[in-house]
Amino acid sequence: MRSVGIIGTGKYVPERILTNEDLAQLVDTNDEWIVSRTGMKERRIAAEHEATSDLAYKAAVRALESSGITAEQLDLIVVCTVTPDMAFPSTACLVQEKLGAKKAAAFDLSAACAGFIYGLATASNFVKTGIYNYTLVIGAECLSRITDYTDRNTCVLFGDGAGAAVLGPVADGRGFQSFELGADGTGQELLKIEGGGSRLPASVETLEDKRHYIYMNGREVFKFAVRIMGSAAEEALAKAGKTKEDIDLFIPHQANMRIIQSAIERLHVPVEKCVINLPRYANTSAASIPIALAEAAEEGRLSEGDTVVLVGFGGGLTWGASVITW
Ligand code: ACO
Repeated sequence: MRSVGIIGTGKYVPERILTNEDLAQLVDTNDEWIVSRTGMKERRIAAEHEATSDLAYKAAVRALESSGITAEQLDLIVVCTVTPDMAFPSTACLVQEKLGAKKAAAFDLSAACAGFIYGLATASNFVKTGIYNYTLVIGAECLSRITDYTDRNTCVLFGDGAGAAVLGPVADGRGFQSFELGADGTGQELLKIEGGGSRLPASVETLEDKRHYIYMNGREVFKFAVRIMGSAAEEALAKAGKTKEDIDLFIPHQANMRIIQSAIERLHVPVEKCVINLPRYANTSAASIPIALAEAAEEGRLSEGDTVVLVGFGGGLTWGASVITW
């Protein structure tokens, strides 16, 4: 088995900014409520002509540049998303075409906000076993397209963006040390979009009932998130033979500042060692961890040998954590 790690990262966020003040024009909310309950101040919104594959492509180009690998060298593209351009073909196939990654296999992966960690686990195994040399994992979302901007319970939380990572062989002992993935389908009702699938195909009724928008039981998701962020990270650390004290950089899913705070308290991670960008981007689902990872790399916060912990949770319910030696 080969050691495999992240050899390049990149991100792209759309230009348009939607502030808390803008949202207060749309629904009965205010900056004070949003900041105190979530930590969010603004989020990015894709332009009308942009879809998830456009965001994913731009993040991928930057990740390839930083890795020194060309698109032609890619063996596999995995796009983690709950907002594909369309049901099929997969967004990964659209990105493959845009990149000109002719020899790459391509598929989408659906694990909501835990998607990127599921994607890393999947794509890294192809490299570890020697089946492939270079794989590309992208987390990309246009959540604005599935958000009800008349529902104050959800519309303040979400934004659009994409982050990408190129995986390849690394020196022995470096790269991914462990993965902890999990799912609990008994929580399927807490966070979902019901309409548009085989159970409830799109119809006049599903449109009128707003079944094509995100439905969320915020309080229950919050309780689950607080529990699972800490325990998933602890499991991944134990599997890697590491302890909380070893953490050099902690990169959590950016769902809510209070959820992140409770996780870092449980793990005894000082806030300086935690990547937090939710004031600027809000929750971008599968894109949130790779965007944060790409920003950490841009800002020089990742040094060779660092112990990096990624952890996320999402609809399904799903969760995932990984320990990486950078
Ligand atoms: N502005 C003002 N008031 C609001 C707003 C708003 N934007 N949203 C809700 N409220 C009101 C509610 O109506 C409620 O009023 P009521 O008591 O009169 O009914 C009150 O504020 C308190 O609501 P709570 O639900 O108790 O607020 P809470 O402190 O739990 O915060 C929040 C709500 C932010 C949604 C929190 O529960 C949370 O972050 N949950 C987790 C969300 C999450 O992580 N989701 C992941 C989704 S990822 C994916 O798969 C796309």
